[in-house]
Amino acid sequence: MARRKIVAGNWKMNMTPSEAVKLAEELKPLVQSDSVDVVYCVPAIDIIPVVEAVKGTNVAVGAENMYFEEKGAFTGEISAAMLKDAGVQYVILGHSERRDYFKEDDALLNKKVKKAFEAGLTPILCCGESLEQREMGVTMDWIRFQIKSDLVGVSADQVASMVIAYEPIWAIGTGKTATTEQAQEVCKGIRDCIAEIYDDATAASVRIQYGGSVNAGNAAELFAQSDIDGGLVGGASLKPDFGKIVNYQ
Ligand code: PGA
Repeated sequence: MARRKIVAGNWKMNMTPSEAVKLAEELKPLVQSDSVDVVYCVPAIDIIPVVEAVKGTNVAVGAENMYFEEKGAFTGEISAAMLKDAGVQYVILGHSERRDYFKEDDALLNKKVKKAFEAGLTPILCCGESLEQREMGVTMDWIRFQIKSDLVGVSADQVASMVIAYEPIWAIGTGKTATTEQAQEVCKGIRDCIAEIYDDATAASVRIQYGGSVNAGNAAELFAQSDIDGGLVGGASLKPDFGKIVNYQ
């Protein structure tokens, strides 16, 4: 069965709650699609108003992060159960900005992935190499390490239902998109890695996005690749262009 494309916006630390509602209203007619899953991953404080704003549409809401503990004395953190109760369906985990600026490592991310599944959320697990790693020729080794360690103890059924986002760090927010060949090669490498750890059916089912300077001009070519099942979109998700990315065909 063909995998359904999934295009997710990563709003990052942009949009106050009132701006978020305005953007959701503005995008509403533009992101309609019967064939593509559409997700807005929004700042925690925007979740409740955005869930309300997209009610009755084809848009699902995601969070940009969460903590793995159930509840308690973790000042400033948000639990998976809180997200679920607020109407969240997806959660980005392991974005390179979290790994880099907030020192999130793979052991922590593994706990977060497991907790997300436990709470009924779908993780969008991010991985990707730095420019230095690409130039050293260790891209696939690095990504295989990330995927393998982030998925320890995660079942085949869970992996089959999740989303993995390949985001080369050097392509994020830089306007430098990976070439279609580079993006396809790594996304295929990730699928092969899943087939090795699990099985072919799981690998055929997991959805793998490309992220890093996706825009209205390059989405169609990227998403046409056999192992690229959509995109995780930063900058362009805050503009009407996001509708063109969703409706790339
Ligand atoms: P970008 O960000 O589209 O602005 O490059 C992508 C991301 O960080 O998810």
